[in-house]
Amino acid sequence: MKLSKMHFEASTSFLLVYIEVIILLSCFNLQGLNLLGLAATPVARGNDTDQRALFQFKAMITGDQLGVMESWNSFIHFCQWNGVTCGRKHQRVTEELNLAGKSFYNNIPQEIGHLRRLEILDMTNNSISGEIPSNISSRLTRFNMRGNRLTGEIPAFLGHLSNLKFLSFANNSLRGSIPPSLGNLSSIQTLVLMANELTGILPEALGQLTNLSGFSIAGNTISGILPISMFNLSNIIIFDIGRNKIQGTFHSDLEINMPRVEFFSVQGNQISGQIPISISNASELNVLQFQDNRLHGNVPSLEKLDSLFRVNLGSNHLGHGKEGDLNFLCALANNTKLESLYVYDNNFGGGSIPASLGKCQNLLTMDLSDNNISGTIPPQVFRLSSMSIALDLSSNYLTGPIPPSLSSLRGLVELDLSDNNLSGGIPKFLVSFRALKYLNLSFNDFEGVIPTEGIFKNTSATFVERNNKICGGIPELHLPRCYSKRSSKTYSKIAVVIVILAVTLVSTSLLILLFRKKKEQPTIICAENSLLQLSYQSILKATDGFSMQNLLGSGSYGSVYKGSIVESGATIAIKVFNLMNQRASRSFLTECEALKNIRHRNLVKVLTAISGVDYQGNDFKALVYEFMVNGSLENWLHPSIAINEAETMRNLNFFQRVSVSIDVAHALEYLHHHCETSIIHCDLKPSNILLDEAMIGHLSDFGLAKILSADILNYSSHQSSSLGLRGTIGYTPPEYAMGCKLSTKGDVYSYGVLLLEMFTGKRPTHDMFKEGFSIHNFVAAALPDRVTEIIDPILLQERSTQGRIADVTLNHKHLQHLNSIFEVALICSAESPTARMDMDDVVSKLCSIRDKLLRPTRSRH
Ligand SMILES: *[C@@H]1O[C@H](CO)[C@@H](O)[C@H](O)[C@H]1NC(C)=O
Ligand SMILES: *[C@@H]1O[C@H](CO)[C@@H](O)[C@H](O)[C@H]1NC(C)=O
Ligand SMILES: *[C@@H]1O[C@H](CO)[C@@H](O)[C@H](O)[C@H]1NC(C)=O
Ligand SMILES: *[C@@H]1O[C@H](CO)[C@@H](O)[C@H](O)[C@H]1NC(C)=O
Ligand SMILES: *[C@@H]1O[C@H](CO)[C@@H](O)[C@H](O)[C@H]1NC(C)=O
Ligand SMILES: *[C@@H]1O[C@H](CO)[C@@H](O)[C@H](O)[C@H]1NC(C)=O
Ligand SMILES: *[C@@H]1O[C@H](CO)[C@@H](O)[C@H](O)[C@H]1NC(C)=O
Ligand SMILES: *[C@@H]1O[C@H](CO)[C@@H](O)[C@H](O)[C@H]1NC(C)=O
Ligand SMILES: *[C@@H]1O[C@H](CO)[C@@H](O)[C@H](O)[C@H]1NC(C)=O
Ligand SMILES: *[C@@H]1O[C@H](CO)[C@@H](O)[C@H](O)[C@H]1NC(C)=O
Repeated sequence: MKLSKMHFEASTSFLLVYIEVIILLSCFNLQGLNLLGLAATPVARGNDTDQRALFQFKAMITGDQLGVMESWNSFIHFCQWNGVTCGRKHQRVTEELNLAGKSFYNNIPQEIGHLRRLEILDMTNNSISGEIPSNISSRLTRFNMRGNRLTGEIPAFLGHLSNLKFLSFANNSLRGSIPPSLGNLSSIQTLVLMANELTGILPEALGQLTNLSGFSIAGNTISGILPISMFNLSNIIIFDIGRNKIQGTFHSDLEINMPRVEFFSVQGNQISGQIPISISNASELNVLQFQDNRLHGNVPSLEKLDSLFRVNLGSNHLGHGKEGDLNFLCALANNTKLESLYVYDNNFGGGSIPASLGKCQNLLTMDLSDNNISGTIPPQVFRLSSMSIALDLSSNYLTGPIPPSLSSLRGLVELDLSDNNLSGGIPKFLVSFRALKYLNLSFNDFEGVIPTEGIFKNTSATFVERNNKICGGIPELHLPRCYSKRSSKTYSKIAVVIVILAVTLVSTSLLILLFRKKKEQPTIICAENSLLQLSYQSILKATDGFSMQNLLGSGSYGSVYKGSIVESGATIAIKVFNLMNQRASRSFLTECEALKNIRHRNLVKVLTAISGVDYQGNDFKALVYEFMVNGSLENWLHPSIAINEAETMRNLNFFQRVSVSIDVAHALEYLHHHCETSIIHCDLKPSNILLDEAMIGHLSDFGLAKILSADILNYSSHQSSSLGLRGTIGYTPPEYAMGCKLSTKGDVYSYGVLLLEMFTGKRPTHDMFKEGFSIHNFVAAALPDRVTEIIDPILLQERSTQGRIADVTLNHKHLQHLNSIFEVALICSAESPTARMDMDDVVSKLCSIRDKLLRPTRSRH
């Protein structure tokens, strides 16, 4: 599929904006001129002529629905008439007639020629028909008739308007050819004849217009050879001869002397030859359009063009079908402005797509379809993290699987990989691409299960035909079922698994023996930018030999100690993994992997990781975190029996709870939507949320986290294999228990439960919740009128505390906000994963609640 419709529209509107800018520029110049008193010679009784001419003009005009001409009567001086501006010095002579967009129609009055001192005539966007008047003020500097219904030819006499700076007849129905006399408009800066029915050739004389900065004849039927003189327009900024029938052969050494050009388009003509090398000197270029011509050969380096944001070379014969053809793309890698790149339907080829394209951070659309590109898709290409509109690699000779890194392009609207030789599975993450409207994977060699969710539900958006090894999907796709053969294979699969397990066990034990003998130094294996270099010995010292006083908590995966580093006095938290538990080791790796590349103010920061052997020669693995002074949310929500009086005073006020809930939401939003590959935390609960000294919430414990990239090539047929029981009872979503795959929506469920817990003060595992009655139902039943019955009673007794906002007492308004929070919590903890919100929506909802909550508090001061 070609994305050409999109670029056509885009380029047209782009050009209009540009021309609008040029119009503004020329207006500005004009006013300057008026002030200088251009109309210096007085004209006897010019006023009478003007008035008469204007009345004649009025008589010709019809369709004045807006009543613009009501002021045009003999009781009002014509200088005060609507749309009329008289000269400053000669208050009685018309200098400007601006009747843009008044929905007038009928023929253009020839009487306009009687306004001998007219400098500006602007009748844009009316429905004026007829021919361009044959006699008009020679003082005219600006003549704008864009968007009317003018017919006939462009009169040659316009070439005499030597003051003309701006001339636009865009979007009319003019015929005939462009008069060569326009080459005499020595002052002209903007000449726009686009979207008419002009024919004939482009006059060579136009190349003399050295002041020309905007030129467009796009969308006519102009033919003949493109005069070389046009490339001499050294002040040109916009050059658009697109969509005509212009011929000519570009030589690679043709000199394009347009140092200021920003918009260069020759698209849609019959130009042959090669792209001139000199285009690489046009360093101001924003838009470069050569598409739909007959160009061949190399593309010159675009390296210096670092303002480029749209390049279209599509539908030519460029390239040699060989490796290296696409090297010119590498030079674009340093260009951060590039938004769209189209090189479809050429003969670019051989080697694979340059991985360096992944550096183009703003690339929204890339179309490399219909070329001779082979090789696998380099995963780095999809570092284009913001690329969000369209990717078309169809009709090439690509092989290998879809790289998992594609999962970062979750804003894609169109994805076309059809007609290649791609293999491997269809990635499940495509299901979660919400914006995707078109997915064509047909004519490839994909295998495995077609998902049934997301875009795969829509047969008019998903195309997968001619992949012989795929199965499943929704019934409308008429693909073979996947599960028919599975049972017969199950036994052999189990056997394979057992063998593998046995081999692994034996080899692991061997390795362990080996390592124990070696007694090597502890090594740091993750946390790339380690802030601390710690060894087993220093940890031992920091925790006072893992003393009970320093034990903060423990679980099946290990124990967490508080420690202080003697040298710096810094306080740290150390999680020592219990390696007797087989899963703990894996959990260490998972956490390392998860935390390696992520940074967020609401995630607990890992300072370093230690993996080595202890003094007994046993494996020792630990993670070192920053220490969170205020402990876990668990302790704040459910204070254990008071150890001392200070403890009983501990309580989070309403506003603090809202703040912490937003902190956690931010952390999850980041993990789900802003990491290179989505991370599912899988174990969200109050004891995993830690509070720093400013009571800001930090999400911790990634021991169960799931990094989606690792799973990307798993297909639904073995989706639940490695899950075991993830998470904590009460917080795990119901679908996990049924063996569904892990998803970000699972975290959303846990988050919903957490929110309910934070504001009701009840644990989801409370005795009262049993036999199908859950904390969700408990809250749902009380909304909206009985909120005070379910709210954490401490919040109702709330007095002034030392929190962030001291005097929050729950009034009627707070209860309203509480209602909104509970609503969010209920949607998040909905039974069906699809009914749940995404974390980004949660963040924006909660933030808006918080802002409303803050507003009255602040305005009091
Ligand atoms: C034209 O100007 C003359 C004298 O300058 C004045 O008497 C006459 O009223 C003016 N006519 C109009 C229509 O303004
Ligand atoms: C244009 O009109 C003016 C007066 O209105 C007249 O003097 C002149 O001769 C006309 N020019 C042409 C080319 O008709
Ligand atoms: C004329 O109409 C076009 C298209 O509707 C619009 O973009 C442009 O701003 C209008 N120009 C004026 C001067 O009204
Ligand atoms: C341009 O102006 C010159 C001098 O006024 C004249 O000789 C020439 O014929 C004009 N060119 C065209 C194409 O009208
Ligand atoms: C381009 O302009 C230069 C001088 O500005 C002139 O010498 C040359 O002949 C022009 N080339 C064409 C093709 O008009
Ligand atoms: C590019 O510009 C430089 C300096 O102005 C000039 O020397 C060089 O010849 C130009 N290259 C081309 C291909 O026009
Ligand atoms: C396409 O690329 C292959 C090498 O990958 C080459 O052999 C072949 O000639 C190319 N086809 C064309 C049309 O250039
Ligand atoms: C990109 O920029 C870097 C640093 O400025 C430079 O080393 C590199 O050569 C540039 N690459 C290209 C293709 O221009
Ligand atoms: C999907 O791709 C194939 C092969 O490129 C093409 O023939 C087909 O028309 C495409 N389907 C749609 C609906 O665009
Ligand atoms: C597709 O790739 C496979 C190997 O992955 C190869 O055997 C086959 O010939 C290729 N088919 C085409 C049409 O290139």
